[in-house]
Amino acid sequence: MTKILITGGAGYIGSNLLKSISNNNFDVTVVDNLMFGQNDNILKKISNFKFVKGDVRDKPLMKTLIKNNDYIIPLAGIVGAPLCDKMPKEAQEINSDSIRFICENTSKDQSVIMPVSNSGYGVGEKNKYCDENSPLNPVSLYGKTKVEAENYIMEKENSISFRLATIFGVSEYRMRTDLMVNNFVSIAFQKKKLKLYEPEFRRNFVHLTDVSSAFLYSMKNFEKMKNNIYNLGLDDANMSKLGLCNKIKEYIPEFDFEIVIGEKDPDQRDYFVSNEKLKSKGFEAKVQLDTGIRELINYFEKREI
Ligand SMILES: NC(=O)c1ccc[n+]([C@@H]2O[C@H](COP(=O)([O-])OP(=O)(O)OC[C@H]3O[C@@H](n4cnc5c(N)ncnc54)[C@H](O)[C@@H]3O)[C@@H](O)[C@H]2O)c1
Repeated sequence: MTKILITGGAGYIGSNLLKSISNNNFDVTVVDNLMFGQNDNILKKISNFKFVKGDVRDKPLMKTLIKNNDYIIPLAGIVGAPLCDKMPKEAQEINSDSIRFICENTSKDQSVIMPVSNSGYGVGEKNKYCDENSPLNPVSLYGKTKVEAENYIMEKENSISFRLATIFGVSEYRMRTDLMVNNFVSIAFQKKKLKLYEPEFRRNFVHLTDVSSAFLYSMKNFEKMKNNIYNLGLDDANMSKLGLCNKIKEYIPEFDFEIVIGEKDPDQRDYFVSNEKLKSKGFEAKVQLDTGIRELINYFEKREI
């Protein structure tokens, strides 16, 4: 039976991944320090796996856990630029140093599949799509730690790095409303005003279930995919922030956003991303932004009741 270790498995992506892979014949172990006060008893109902409450910086623990697994999927992290700015020491140790430790302590027969952020593209060129060979130019500590982590992963034989677009969609176990689409829909739903800075800035988005499907696909097609970096985003969701707001307004007509001229967004990311390389290996993100927006509205409606 294929053995998988998922670090940070009690998070937004991890808990969804556990659900997606539950029908496969995998022996899964999750290690997570439950830093958001997640309830591991609820998590255990998602799927059948071993849960270890622990910290990925605990080297003896990690050495024991890494051993005997075929795949390591490191999801534990201090995620997003604002949180990394609040916790810079932890961001460095968890997002970057712990990945180096995993790479140094896996044999060449063990495989690592890791999500990094396409934040590394920072500010892309106008009228050009960033591909995996585009220069990396991270504009935040978060982006920098993820670029370092990817460098460690790529030095290791038998590894895959997914440069993820900003994810959207509902994760019932650990919801994130700080991600751009989730955040804007939440604001629109609560009929709050949104000040939109630098509305022409471009981003790429991807649905949470497509991310889980890509992980599963890469394990099933590891030989043809290994030792590579892939952008993972939805082609139809390469859009500006203004485009996103207009799309949300189709579903919530009273969404009141105000374009602010002449002021900078603290988040300076601005890029479109090409997902062609991953498509050439047979995987394509499919869940549309419209589906995600409807799903999010439904989620917020249920919570209101
Ligand atoms: N969500 C996105 O849009 C996105 C995009 C690109 C990359 N990623 C990457 O995917 C990974 C998971 O992101 P997410 O959205 O699920 O975030 P998340 O915050 O929901 O999950 C992170 C998990 O790691 C755990 N954790 C934190 N520090 C730990 C430590 N020291 N030891 C053990 N566990 C620890 C947390 O408890 C949490 O369950 C991160 O590496 C992130 O950088 C996410």
